[in-house]
Amino acid sequence: MEHQLQSLETEARKSLEQLSDSGQLEEFRVRFLGRKGDFSTIMRQLGTVPAEERPRVGQLANSIKAEIERLFEGKKAALAATASGSAGKATPDLSLPGRCPAGGKLHPITLVMRETCAIFENLGFSVAEGPDVELDYYNFEALNIPAHHPARDMHDTFYISDSVLLRTHTSPMQARIMEAQQPPLRVIAPGKVYRCDSDITHTPMFHQVEGFLVDKNISFADLKGVLTVFTRKMFEKELPLRFRPSFFPFTEPSAEVDIACVICGGEGCRVCKKTGWLEILGSGMIDPEVFKMVGYDPEVYSGFAFGLGIERIAMLKYGIDDIRLFYENDQRFLSQF
Ligand code: PHE
Repeated sequence: MEHQLQSLETEARKSLEQLSDSGQLEEFRVRFLGRKGDFSTIMRQLGTVPAEERPRVGQLANSIKAEIERLFEGKKAALAATASGSAGKATPDLSLPGRCPAGGKLHPITLVMRETCAIFENLGFSVAEGPDVELDYYNFEALNIPAHHPARDMHDTFYISDSVLLRTHTSPMQARIMEAQQPPLRVIAPGKVYRCDSDITHTPMFHQVEGFLVDKNISFADLKGVLTVFTRKMFEKELPLRFRPSFFPFTEPSAEVDIACVICGGEGCRVCKKTGWLEILGSGMIDPEVFKMVGYDPEVYSGFAFGLGIERIAMLKYGIDDIRLFYENDQRFLSQF
């Protein structure tokens, strides 16, 4: 019966749309709303519906009837207006409230990107942006990744020509800035990066924020300090951090940094794959080879660098479990931030 009621509503909508004069409108009324009409015919079966379901079905019937009546009245008014040729001249009802356009919001990636930059700016870092279309030299060569180095395989690079590519990380900005400026340096470089990869945790374009600091007597402890401040500010709590030994050709030693799972607090859940930890960035002490390439004396200067994945941080901060949601432009998703 519910089904019948629903198809009746659809049917009524369709016929209303098609009819164009008051004679047809009257036929419509008799057919759908009349005492011997389709609605009454369906309602006669209400007695056969089990007693416990009757109130619900009755309610549905009432609301469908009201809707059909509303549509009918609307059409009647519209036909009357056209008939008298006054459609365009009808006096506007000035008392009606205005229709507000839905307000725009910042994209969650923009929000996290801005917040990340703000945290580092408060720590004295300045912001620099570089090109998405990058030279092989800065993306690899200057970062101690020569041609045929196995580390290139990890990057799933989109090449434009032999020497030009879409940057696979924001690290080329380390080389660009060090080449152009002298220490002390404290810089972050936010931006888009590209890798030929796509699934629930990877998109072909994503965002990173690179950070690096070069001065005399910089140690791993400084890196730890800066990242600890960052995660506490970003996640608004004292999250335990874990530095896991890793490898990047442009840092030595290198570490990947995990935070205690923000979902389960370290107990182990689906999001952290039962490990209790979530990886948020790659980091390390800048490799002396990189310093040599830009003309800094590695005996005099030392520094650290890190690269944060912004999508990753946004997913953890807002509890989002599929990275593709960021790029589907679904209003229902976007309006939540
Ligand atoms: N560029 C590295 C990546 O994208 C991250 C990184 C940056 C590691 C800086 C160390 C230092 O995976």
